[in-house]
Amino acid sequence: MIEDVVELAKRRGFFVQSAGVYGGVSGFYTFGPQGAALKQNVEDTWRDRFAIQEGNMEVDAPTVMPEAVFEASGHLDTFDDMHVECPECGSNHRADHIVEDNTDIEEAESLPAAEVEELIAEYELVCPDCGTGLAGQVIDDFNLMFETNIGPGSASPGYLRPETAQGIFVEFPQLAEYARNQLPFGVTQIGRAYRNEISPRKSLLRVREFTQAELELFVDPEEDEPTLDRVRDVTAPFYPADEQEAADGEIREATIGEVVDDGTVADPWIAYYLGAAAQWYESIGVDMDRFRFRQHLAGELAHYAADCWDAEAEVDGDWIELAGFAYRGDYDLSKHADHSGEEFTVFKQYDDPVTVERATVDPDMSALGPEFGGAAADVAAALESLVERDPDAFEAASESGDPVTVEVDGETYEVPIEQTGYAVEEVTESGEHVSPHVVEPSFGVDRALYTALDHCYREDEVDGESRTYLALPAGVAPTTVGVFPLMDRDGMGDRAHEVVDDLRDAGLAVTYDDSGAIGRRYRRQDEVGTPFCVTVDYDTLGEGDDPELEGTVTVRERDSTDQRRVPVESLAETLRNLRDGALTFDDI
Ligand code: ATP
Ligand code: GLY
Repeated sequence: MIEDVVELAKRRGFFVQSAGVYGGVSGFYTFGPQGAALKQNVEDTWRDRFAIQEGNMEVDAPTVMPEAVFEASGHLDTFDDMHVECPECGSNHRADHIVEDNTDIEEAESLPAAEVEELIAEYELVCPDCGTGLAGQVIDDFNLMFETNIGPGSASPGYLRPETAQGIFVEFPQLAEYARNQLPFGVTQIGRAYRNEISPRKSLLRVREFTQAELELFVDPEEDEPTLDRVRDVTAPFYPADEQEAADGEIREATIGEVVDDGTVADPWIAYYLGAAAQWYESIGVDMDRFRFRQHLAGELAHYAADCWDAEAEVDGDWIELAGFAYRGDYDLSKHADHSGEEFTVFKQYDDPVTVERATVDPDMSALGPEFGGAAADVAAALESLVERDPDAFEAASESGDPVTVEVDGETYEVPIEQTGYAVEEVTESGEHVSPHVVEPSFGVDRALYTALDHCYREDEVDGESRTYLALPAGVAPTTVGVFPLMDRDGMGDRAHEVVDDLRDAGLAVTYDDSGAIGRRYRRQDEVGTPFCVTVDYDTLGEGDDPELEGTVTVRERDSTDQRRVPVESLAETLRNLRDGALTFDDI
């Protein structure tokens, strides 16, 4: 099947491997006219569902970011895959994929490298390219980020972003201002991400440059709850971690309301977005009978995630991750706060000011200076931080007379309590600083697009001839209407061009075709998923057998191949309603 889709994609202008004239490079694709239009429509529907309908803000950040960003985010240290090289032919492979492809083990990515090495030896697994045994080969960690230099020389290393998310996190202080410091607020971004995949494969499913559509939702973990009612009744198949680990584990069909109520999905925000995602995937043509939500196993979680669910679809016999829904906690904002020294919190105003007791210190530098020399300022800073975290340490020292102990750069310093300036005072507070937690739905656009193509690929027979068509939903199909003159003569071509102009003015994506037999023109549009075709004929001009049909055209529906006569006057409105789902073909 994957071969059929890839062949159609190339022949009809959806996508091709890029730079083919120079042999191409694995993992890079160019979207042709049909593919670019389909991708744009998929992105537009995502923007509508996850930005506009949710009231979220959209941003557009650079794809190259300085090293400091990825030092803080943890990607420099931990964004690795398990790499094994064939000793014979030198080809490179994902060691965990070799195990998954040749054994019953499903999530080898979650296993330690040593265990994967043992499995390769135990199952006598071989190089997929040349068949040489891989037992005994070292598995190393390969960092997936593409590195570059910003400006001449190598003084300023940069990286192509491996996720769009970091472009949002680093701007958090500014974005919080735009959101008037009101939690919860969400920020979306649709843009390219880059990963130097060890072994790109399966067409668009694993590439080195792809488009992500991500939403970072910043919530107050103590207070904010989603409006679950919008998705409570959405049904989907769920595959929790405990079912995956059980010998007879199963996938359970349930509503979003049920998985929240019974605790299957611990975080209601994640559950809310699983519901929204199921609706969105269905709207772009993913077959819900080949779809599921799977929870990550503990060893599989990304370095930033406390819990994660994936949306997965069955493509060509394998389950493919389409999107990840991660509870990232305060990992990202606290890392960027630590590394940048900036404030990554929001100030939450109380309804009424409250009076509280606050422990403070005012270190006596005239005593600390002579005692600790160059370390005195750091010791003072450590005391200030300790009193915020653990005022009881000072209370205990006041009672016992023991010194207060702090650590600076691995050294322990003891400070007599009277030199710390410890005091407890009453202060009136108008609010508090909250560290938001992050809920992240992260979608891959290329995988969604490819899955929709695969799931919408159909073969049938019409009038005794076999045909191939893409049953893409009208809202995402690259072209909404194909307009044909029955023949390009007797004024039918001119009338068809007028119809094209009217439909384009009405905001519809239209193509005109007058070449070849009408049946062939229908087949061409079927193959690129055009949901409706309009034919201008002699009846339209008032020169046919039935004078009552003057001023009407034939509208043909792709999947059923049924036809209706529609007045040209109301054609644009009818087609727009069909595209937007406000009308079904049978309603005409
Ligand atoms: P996988 O395990 O399949 O490599 P991942 O867990 O690394 O995927 P995430 O890091 O969660 O993926 O990325 C978020 C989304 O970005 C994925 O769900 C997927 O849709 C998309 N994505 C990630 N890597 C690729 C890739 N190499 N090619 C195409 N899309 C990708
Ligand atoms: N932002 C999530 C990911 O790309 O992994």
